Amino acid sequence: MALMTTLLASLLILSFFSHGTSLSSNYYSKTCPNVESLVTKAVSDAASNDKKVPAALLRMHFHDCFIRGCDASVLLDSKGKNTAEKDGPPNVSLHAFYVIDNAKKAVESACPGIVSCADILALAARDSVVLSGGPSWDVPKGRKDGRTSKASETIQLPAPTFNISQLQKSFAQRGLSLEDLVALSGGHTLGFSHCSSFKNRIHNFNSTTDIDPSLQPSFAASLKSVCPVKNAKNAGVPMDPSSTSFDNTYYKLLFQQKALFSSDKALLDFPKTKNLASKFASSKDAFTKAFIKSMIKMSSITGGQEVRKNCKVVN
Ligand code: HEM
Ligand SMILES: *[C@@H]1O[C@H](CO)[C@@H](O)[C@H](O)[C@H]1NC(C)=O
Ligand SMILES: *[C@@H]1O[C@H](CO)[C@@H](O)[C@H](O)[C@H]1NC(C)=O
Ligand SMILES: *[C@@H]1O[C@H](CO)[C@@H](O)[C@H](O)[C@H]1NC(C)=O
Repeated sequence: MALMTTLLASLLILSFFSHGTSLSSNYYSKTCPNVESLVTKAVSDAASNDKKVPAALLRMHFHDCFIRGCDASVLLDSKGKNTAEKDGPPNVSLHAFYVIDNAKKAVESACPGIVSCADILALAARDSVVLSGGPSWDVPKGRKDGRTSKASETIQLPAPTFNISQLQKSFAQRGLSLEDLVALSGGHTLGFSHCSSFKNRIHNFNSTTDIDPSLQPSFAASLKSVCPVKNAKNAGVPMDPSSTSFDNTYYKLLFQQKALFSSDKALLDFPKTKNLASKFASSKDAFTKAFIKSMIKMSSITGGQEVRKNCKVVN
């Protein structure tokens, strides 16, 4: 019964997000044949000045897709009384919006009014992985941009304190499986995390222990030295030691008890997800294949209605 309800809820949410928009790899081949190279140039120009750009764009695309589908709702600015997603609570890690604006400008001057901001962000996320030494893939295109962005909806994003059942539920609500969860979590091979995202593991973990006993002790000590107080503001650590290089180190760290978030560590708590993580830890190729498949699935959750002229405001 509970399973039935969950299934029905997932179907409802999926049909709400999908709108029957169908995506294709050659969507712009007649109307904007150079779109991909224009986006790639904007992303690589920015990344060559700032190594933090690729991680930011990959995470931005994930946030976009998890709220109202991949409809560029994450790019809208707050307006009047409406506080947009980008000004909501998990905003601390969202940055590099200017890269999408630069790409949009280049694309608009080549083919005005044709390419959605949601497609530009999906392409930029793929380019970010490639620029970090990861795999490339064909991005299906034809997404439309949405007209709504609400900070209050960012609570729908999975939190770093989530356990495996909460993660499973969050992904299932978007039609994503446990395999997608494990493969996409590998995105944490890139980027930076603030202390606030893992403070639960190193300060007052629970009433009997200060530090999560599942953390490798010297790793826990190093986290605590970077974040000595519970409310350390801007401090943080790289997501993995090779945080500008897209690889499978993330999964190896999970098995050394050096997962950064409770939600990363949680992947070892179901036999199924643990086995997948183990497969990805021992085979970069298996990880890469699964990551591509799951990225295409996540980035195909659509939801918008228009092609925005300016990614920050609705038409
Ligand atoms: C499974 C659920 C997920 C949770 C709970 C989660 C949570 C987080 C948190 C808390 C941060 C650090 C924010 C900060 O402190 O600045 C982060 C960073 C990041 N996440 Fe995730 N995430 C999840 C899934 C994903 C997915 C699916 C992707 C992409 C495929 C992704 C890509 C990233 C990247 C690249 C960063 C680094 C951002 C930067 O350096 O600017 N995450 N994530
Ligand atoms: C992030 O969101 C908080 C509200 O949760 C807001 O006070 C803050 O200004 C936002 N920060 C940025 C950089 O948008
Ligand atoms: C995960 O957390 C939820 C909410 O706190 C709880 O109901 C559930 O039992 C937990 N599941 C696991 C596997 O720990
Ligand atoms: C605190 O966490 C540890 C390790 O997970 C566990 O063994 C212990 O029972 C927990 N204590 C409480 C009061 O929940």
